Amino acid sequence: MKGNFFQPGALWLDDAGIPINAHGGGILLHGGVYYWFGEHKVGGEPGNSAQVGVRVYSSEDLVHWSNKGIALQVSGDANHDLARGCILERPKVIYNARTRQFVMWFHLELLGQGYGAARSGVAVADCVTGPYRYLSSFRPNAGVWPKNAAAGECGALDAGEQRLIAEWLPNADEMRDCYPGNIFCRDFAGGQMARDMTLFVDDDQTAYQVYASEENGTLHISQLSEDYLRPAGNYVRIFPGRFNEAPALFKTKSGDYYLITSDCTGWSPNPARLSHAKSIWGPWEELGNPCRGSREEVATTFWSQSTYVLPLAGDRFIYLGDRWNPMDAIDGRYVWLPIEFENGLPVLRWREKWSLEQL
Ligand code: GAL
Repeated sequence: MKGNFFQPGALWLDDAGIPINAHGGGILLHGGVYYWFGEHKVGGEPGNSAQVGVRVYSSEDLVHWSNKGIALQVSGDANHDLARGCILERPKVIYNARTRQFVMWFHLELLGQGYGAARSGVAVADCVTGPYRYLSSFRPNAGVWPKNAAAGECGALDAGEQRLIAEWLPNADEMRDCYPGNIFCRDFAGGQMARDMTLFVDDDQTAYQVYASEENGTLHISQLSEDYLRPAGNYVRIFPGRFNEAPALFKTKSGDYYLITSDCTGWSPNPARLSHAKSIWGPWEELGNPCRGSREEVATTFWSQSTYVLPLAGDRFIYLGDRWNPMDAIDGRYVWLPIEFENGLPVLRWREKWSLEQL
């Protein structure tokens, strides 16, 4: 990045001249400084799992970043939840003014289990840059029914219903039309699956986790406890069977909640989706693709997948996306674009080069 410009997709160097290594990340503004937390990736395919941990950078202008080290480290102990080689994705950090703690949530897959564990991990620190102390990981909302489910939808599954889900699973990619809407019942006792995720703190300081659940088929919006360390036991299911991933939630001064998500196609980009609600609990309405541009740009979200939307003063917002490179994970790029409002709705357009003054 030269001068004060963002150059989406270009190599982005920190102030020591080293490419920024913070993928699937999010940003916390604290004490007038921005902190960018993201997955530290290594080269080649091994970089698709966690070899190092979560890295943090700081900046005052969002363009120039200085490396503040590893905020959360993987463990050398193969039996630890964060054993080197586990999958640790999409870390997000929020600040709890009550406890004066910085709280990090992330998607955790245990070593050697592929994407089967589908857990949320939580770590805390007294200092924004860490080191973060790992607390625990779990599948959220064990023993809690979603607050927007009809009574008839909730209940233990019989053997036949369980078999239908088990038969559908190996063909889930091809058989989206047959999505079993009752996977959350299967997972009631052990907790809900949680993969791609984000955190959102509302104006009243209530925090929420949004995670891709139910074999990635359905998003959950889940309130966090007052200390932000656990689910509060209050959640809704949204867009069942739409396979939304990569959630990024933001709210305008008018009180409108917007959610940008992607479809579920692994590391390959796909068309983004915009949704809107007047209450975080819904009803949520899908509004289509927020991208404007060429066919390819619209079909690939400018060759990126959402990870966060950063709110700035004055009701301005920046879209943060990842341009993944699974063959050489460390060379994944960042696609940051200004969110424009057109007819009152957020849209994204490609910019080769742009600055905050243009927001
Ligand atoms: C994507 C997801 C990424 C990562 C990847 C693995 O769909 O958004 O965070 O999990 O799949 O294939």
